[in-house]
Amino acid sequence: MALKENIQSLLAQVGELKANNAEELEALRIKYLSKKGEITALFNEFRNVPNDQKRELGQLLNQLRQETEARINELREQFEEKAAEADKLDLTRTPDPIALGTRHPLSLVREEIEDIFSRIGFTIAQGPEVEDDKHVYGMLNFAPEHPARDMQDTFFIEKEVGVQKPTDVLLRSHTSSVQTRVMTSQKPPIRVLCPGRVYRNEAISARAHCFFHQVEGLYIDKNVSFADLREALLYFSKEMFGPETKIRLRPSYFPFTEPSAEMDISCNICGGVGCSFCKGTGWVEILGCGMVDPNVLEACGIDSKEYSGFAFGMGVERITNLKYRVKDLRLFSENDVRFLRQFESC
Ligand code: PHE
Repeated sequence: MALKENIQSLLAQVGELKANNAEELEALRIKYLSKKGEITALFNEFRNVPNDQKRELGQLLNQLRQETEARINELREQFEEKAAEADKLDLTRTPDPIALGTRHPLSLVREEIEDIFSRIGFTIAQGPEVEDDKHVYGMLNFAPEHPARDMQDTFFIEKEVGVQKPTDVLLRSHTSSVQTRVMTSQKPPIRVLCPGRVYRNEAISARAHCFFHQVEGLYIDKNVSFADLREALLYFSKEMFGPETKIRLRPSYFPFTEPSAEMDISCNICGGVGCSFCKGTGWVEILGCGMVDPNVLEACGIDSKEYSGFAFGMGVERITNLKYRVKDLRLFSENDVRFLRQFESC
């Protein structure tokens, strides 16, 4: 009764059938159920079974085939579930939460200034921090003996280490140097914002540092007037410090603008009533500005009879102090995380 024993021994193994992956599962199917499979072979043998045994063996064989198919389907479902699970996992994720850094307050404020001016058509221009006298002073109408060129104010770079010869290589003391570079390389209309780091030879204290950051703006076109300058600055002040902000322009002097002015905003800390920050005046100075001096336009190859323009420049540290009330300039460059973490949510 070899056939019956074969069927029974296979039936006993069905529950034990195992496969670790789809290939192994397919191998099982081929081994038992394919045309050359073991169960198919038993069906072939069944043809020769005497009639009186056909009923019993036929039932057993059918049971074997059904159970084997069921077991193989069960294993297949297990793989499919596992594959679907694996699809849901993000294997690129790091196991622990990553400690995020914070934006530096000066970057936050610089980007806000850039954003405000970009909405009225200004684009960003950049230039080198190591500059020459011509771009920082000469083309900007500074007289040859102007005190800004003094070693007290400007860092000059020695051409040979340790040899202090007169040199015209220096660290820019304002980003107006980028304006001269733009004016000599582009044709009007020009509408650029020049953000960047500048250097001045000052003793470091809570109120002064040997480097700080500026954003300067330049607009040159036909018929640009002082009223355009005032409107642009009023728009900026309201966007930056709130819609109730007022501005005030006081006459001033810069070699590269004529007329020149300094701009105050109504103190955003006391709302203009007077406090210790604004020294009781209700106003705080935030920038210098003016109409580009025709000498500067001509030095940069722009016809001053056809074109006029305005320029302004502000210190990013100063604006940041006003926005976030930082009292000591040194905090900006000390990288103290207790200071920087306060800007985490900004
Ligand atoms: N360059 C000036 C400074 O560094 C600022 C300024 C720019 C003033 C443009 C007027 C016009 O102080």
